[in-house]
Amino acid sequence: MNGFVPYPVRETYRLIEPGPTVLISTSDGVRDNIMTNAFNMPVRHDGILAVIVGTWDTSFATLQATRQCVIGIPGADLMRTTVQVGNSSSQDLDKWKHFGLTRVPGVSVAAPLIGECVANIECKVEDDSLVEDYSLWLLRTTAAWIRPDAVPAPEFHHRGNGTFTTNGELHDLSDEMTKWKYFTD
Ligand SMILES: Cc1cc2nc3c(=O)[nH]c(=O)nc-3n(C[C@H](O)[C@H](O)[C@H](O)COP(=O)(O)O)c2cc1C
Repeated sequence: MNGFVPYPVRETYRLIEPGPTVLISTSDGVRDNIMTNAFNMPVRHDGILAVIVGTWDTSFATLQATRQCVIGIPGADLMRTTVQVGNSSSQDLDKWKHFGLTRVPGVSVAAPLIGECVANIECKVEDDSLVEDYSLWLLRTTAAWIRPDAVPAPEFHHRGNGTFTTNGELHDLSDEMTKWKYFTD
């Protein structure tokens, strides 16, 4: 069809997935969980974000009980660790200790920031009405932190099948964002 070939409907997520692969930290005060998350997106400019966290994750119950978490943005140096974090359960091991990750206290949530990440976003649950059907949590950012010395755009992206991409060249089209100028200032 005009040069297109059919693509499996069940794999369309792979075409739009690549937001950053992130780490999500939760804590119930006794156990600090950490998980990998690749299904995530911004929702509103005032700091509302969405993440998919399912019942298969230990972190799910903690997020449900505490209604707060930290989203850490790992740089490409943490790519392997991030996959390994996502391949293990906080029920079986202390992933923080096992993977040499550093807990850094936040200011608005009990879950620790991840010291090795280039950015950390403290969040509280804004809306869980889509969790039962879609495992989709709407989160409100309550504080956010970045390392000013991090290389530009250091995050990496999951292509959905265990392959990852890092960011390429930066293209600055901010002068052409005429309708949305206030986002570029
Ligand atoms: C690359 C990658 C991406 C993942 N993305 C998600 C995701 O978006 N949502 C999710 O619920 N689980 C995702 N997982 C699976 C969780 O990270 C995994 O179940 C994790 O080990 C749960 O940890 P926990 O049981 O300690 O909470 C992903 C795993 C990997 C390796």
